[in-house]
Amino acid sequence: MTGDRHASFGRTLAAMQGHQQGHHGWNAFHRALLDLTASSDPALDRILTAVRHKRPSMSDSHLITLLGIAVRQLASTHPDVASVFEPEALPAERSRSLGAALERHETEAVDLLTSHSNSFTGARRFLVPQLLIGGFARHFGVDEVRLLDVGTGLGALPRQLNNREVFDRFAADLTWLPERPPYLDIPLAVRHGIDAAPLPTTDWVGSCHGPSAYYEDRWSELVWSLERAAATAGQVRLSALDVLDRAQLAGFLRTHRFNVITCNFVLYQYEREVRQRLIAELVGQLAAPGLFLSMEPSHDLVRQGSRVTGYLAGDPRPLHLADAEDAHFIGRVTAGADLAAVIGPGTGGGS
Ligand SMILES: C[S@@+](CC[C@H](N)C(=O)[O-])C[C@H]1O[C@@H](n2cnc3c(N)ncnc32)[C@H](O)[C@@H]1O
Repeated sequence: MTGDRHASFGRTLAAMQGHQQGHHGWNAFHRALLDLTASSDPALDRILTAVRHKRPSMSDSHLITLLGIAVRQLASTHPDVASVFEPEALPAERSRSLGAALERHETEAVDLLTSHSNSFTGARRFLVPQLLIGGFARHFGVDEVRLLDVGTGLGALPRQLNNREVFDRFAADLTWLPERPPYLDIPLAVRHGIDAAPLPTTDWVGSCHGPSAYYEDRWSELVWSLERAAATAGQVRLSALDVLDRAQLAGFLRTHRFNVITCNFVLYQYEREVRQRLIAELVGQLAAPGLFLSMEPSHDLVRQGSRVTGYLAGDPRPLHLADAEDAHFIGRVTAGADLAAVIGPGTGGGS
């Protein structure tokens, strides 16, 4: 890895390690990784160089979360790696265990890091799209929503939409300021989700949840909501498609003529220019009237929160729709200045 990349990786890692929520259990792992980064650990350096070579547009924050997940996955099959996540381990012991694990399982680590992405899935994230797409459809008189969820993982969001039971359970823990837009059923005609091959498995998505009681709760919520929304599973079409493959993506979008595209916690995984290019490609292919909805960590995972941004078909201007204080959508959501442009005035979107 070049000196610049090494330095930016170290800076992002140090910032993530100081996250105000302690990243709910990843903190001790990040500290051990920081120790290895500071000492230019040769196995870590070889792994990062190999991954950067194969996936040059991956953001530092994504690479850091993916490293944690890959080591967790290794721990599930190699007992010698489990000590990395031993809750009682002293920091120096954990760093040594991590260094030894990376050296012993270098090839497997590189395989995981070059063939997978962080597929952590938030069971509560669909709350915001439910209200905003419902409001958009009413405001623009859209009677048929053809939905694509980009980076869908197991296809949770396309399944959960319009499920009132799942909505009501999670909506109770989310406060909207100044007021919650009304719940409206979305006139869904198509529920499609795409993710990169190999499509994430339940086992992989489980590994993407951190080693803590907090993440166990998030995981059980996801499992519960997938079960409760099982009736719609048959309506959800999942396809393997790499959105970085521009020709394939353009052909797919032209074929399907989606009028609503959601893309949540995907763009942060890439460097800034790639994010902008992807947004332009996805918005550019929306059928009108159409909505592109994106929720991303507000500060690239180094601080708490999520920003909700929208684009209307035919208009390249980003619309600030909302801010959530927590990327797992527990707590407060505050309406953004442009919300009324999507859901209409006086419906939670202000005037
Ligand atoms: C962090 S998960 C988010 C899952 C879900 N959207 C949510 O917000 O809870 C990001 C997902 O985007 C997918 N992804 C990343 N890059 C992709 C690409 N180039 N093409 C398709 N999917 C991609 C990953 O595989 C992963 O499942």
